[in-house]
Amino acid sequence: MKVILIGNRSMLGQDIFKVLSSNNISIADFSSDQIDITSEESIKQGLINCENYDYLINCAAYTKVDLCEKEFDLALDVNSKGVHLLANWCFSHNVILMHFSTDYVFNGKQNVFHSEDCDCDPINKYGLSKLRGEQAIKTRLERYYIFRVQWLYGCFGHHFVRAIVSKAKQNDSISIVNDQWGSPTWTLDIANMIKCVIDTSPSYGVYHFRSFGTTTWYEFGCYFLKQLGIQVNITPVSSNDFSALAKRPSYGCLSIEKWTSLNLYQPFHWQTAVNSYLELENNFE
Ligand SMILES: NC(=O)c1ccc[n+]([C@@H]2O[C@H](COP(=O)([O-])OP(=O)(O)OC[C@H]3O[C@@H](n4cnc5c(N)ncnc54)[C@H](OP(=O)(O)O)[C@@H]3O)[C@@H](O)[C@H]2O)c1
Repeated sequence: MKVILIGNRSMLGQDIFKVLSSNNISIADFSSDQIDITSEESIKQGLINCENYDYLINCAAYTKVDLCEKEFDLALDVNSKGVHLLANWCFSHNVILMHFSTDYVFNGKQNVFHSEDCDCDPINKYGLSKLRGEQAIKTRLERYYIFRVQWLYGCFGHHFVRAIVSKAKQNDSISIVNDQWGSPTWTLDIANMIKCVIDTSPSYGVYHFRSFGTTTWYEFGCYFLKQLGIQVNITPVSSNDFSALAKRPSYGCLSIEKWTSLNLYQPFHWQTAVNSYLELENNFE
C-alpha cells in the first residue's frame, strides 16, 4: 500500500504519519515548502515521482478560523481551489482522495445530531471555504472519502488543551465558553480510523467521525485540568462574552452512526481519549 500525505506538519497529519509508518505503509509526505496546493504546477512537480500510489491524504488547510473572516480569499484559495486541484490530480492518476472537513459546515442552531445528509449552512467563512472544498471533490471524483471532524487536539500543534493549560498555569482564574456543544477528538484516534479505512475499504463518501460522548468547552476544560491536578478558578461564560471574529455553532454535534454502524473501528469516549493523550503529552509550557 502506498500513500501520499499532504500537510505533514499539521496537527493531524503528524499523527497520521506516525500511525501509518509504524504499520509499514509506504508514505510520500509533503509540507507546504514542498507542495503549495494552490498551484497546479507545484502539485504536478511535487508529485512527479508519485506513480502508482493508492491514496492521497490531504491534511493541508487554512485553519485560522477567525482570520478566515478577514482573509476569505486566502481561505478559498487553500480550502477550495487547492482541494479542487488535488482532486484533479487524483482523478488523472487514479488515486483515492481522503480529505478532512468540519462541523462548521452546519449552522448548529438546532439541538440535533447532524448526519452526513443534513443540509449544510456554514456558520462562518472558514466553514464556507471548507464546504466549497467538499463540493469540488464531489464534482470531480467518485473515489473519495471526506471525514468531517471536530474539536481536534493531540501531541502536535496548537489547540485548546495546550492553550488552556498554559493560561491556567499563568492565572488564578480563567473563563471558558459553556454554550457550545461538541466532541473533543484526539488526532491519534482519527489516525487509527484512517489506518482502518485503508485496511478495509468501506464505501466511498462523506463520514462524520468524532469521539463518543459530547460536552462543552467548559466541561472539557474542567475535566483535563482536574486530571492534571492544576488548581485554577474556572468561570463558565457565554460565547457572547468573547469577541471572536467568527461565529461558532452552538450545537455542532455530529452523528457518527454511519461510521460506527460499519463496525470497523470504534472511537474512544472523549474522556478515555483525553486520559490517554495526557499520558503521552510532554509539551505543556
Ligand atoms: N483543528 C481542528 O480542530 C479541526 C476541526 C475540524 C476540521 N479540521 C480539519 O482537519 C484537517 C487538519 O487540521 P489541523 O488542525 O491538523 O491543521 P493544522 O495543524 O492547522 O495544519 C494545516 C496545514 O496546512 C498546511 N497548508 C496551509 N496552506 C497550504 C498550502 N497552500 N499548501 C500546502 N499546505 C498548506 C500547513 O503546512 P505547513 O505547516 O507545511 O506550512 C499546515 O501544516 C484540516 O482539513 C482541517 O480543516 C480541523
